[in-house]
Amino acid sequence: MTEVIRSAAALREKVAAWKRSGMLVGVVPTMGALHDGHLSLARAARAQSDRVIVTIFVNPMQFNNPEDLKKYPRDETRDLALLEADGVDVLFAPGPDEVYPEGFATKVSVAGISAPMEGAFRPGHFDGVATVVSKLFGMTQAGRAFFGEKDWQQLQVVRRLVTDLNIPVDVIGCPTIREDDGLAMSSRNVRLSDAERAVAPALHRAMQAAAEAIRGGAPTGAALADARAAILAAGFGAVEYLDLRHAGTLEPIDRAGPPARLLVAAMLGEVRLIDNIAV
Ligand code: PAF
Repeated sequence: MTEVIRSAAALREKVAAWKRSGMLVGVVPTMGALHDGHLSLARAARAQSDRVIVTIFVNPMQFNNPEDLKKYPRDETRDLALLEADGVDVLFAPGPDEVYPEGFATKVSVAGISAPMEGAFRPGHFDGVATVVSKLFGMTQAGRAFFGEKDWQQLQVVRRLVTDLNIPVDVIGCPTIREDDGLAMSSRNVRLSDAERAVAPALHRAMQAAAEAIRGGAPTGAALADARAAILAAGFGAVEYLDLRHAGTLEPIDRAGPPARLLVAAMLGEVRLIDNIAV
């Protein structure tokens, strides 16, 4: 049975009791609208911790676009049933006033690594993520935290954050879960029309083709230009970025092999899709 907790004080009591018995607590921070990607994180947490907390909070501070916040899918009843089936111990689902009470005045900002790509196209996004993740670590007191590699830049921002602020949590990145046709699972996928859903896998296909070309010795610029053209020809409206970068520092890089990572964000109708792969 998954217990639903909404207050930080009640959660703290529960976690303190677990810790007194020597248990290791794992947390999976989410914004709900759970899919198999999230559930794979919960399973990783289950395998690597004694107790598992999944948090659901649609964090207004990380949305630079109010329409996107309004349209973000929410279905706590369904989410809870999925977590129950997976044996999650606690669903922590605080309301906005619990996370940002009156007078809240702190912002956590991770310089450098937050700036390119998502940071450039979604100003303030990573300040919102870093602030809420810091709060969720404080509220859950977890020893391990599980994040999906689909949000690669976010994962690097969170790693930097816990190092810089000496937050005692092990950050564990888990592989992207994909649909059979290669589309990375995302809560936003439910907003795709049938026609858009049919186009969406072209993003991953174009990335794979670019990665193969770069590995085969093609100049990076030409391979990325071909991939952009293929994504647009498939029906995407815009490619916001398609960059080859160092997986850890996110500095631009020009050759294949570790630590090269190809990262993309593209608009399909009203829906913004992101993905990344190793090259
Ligand atoms: O990846 C997400 O769902 C969110 O950015 C997170 C980490 C839960 C913070 O709100």
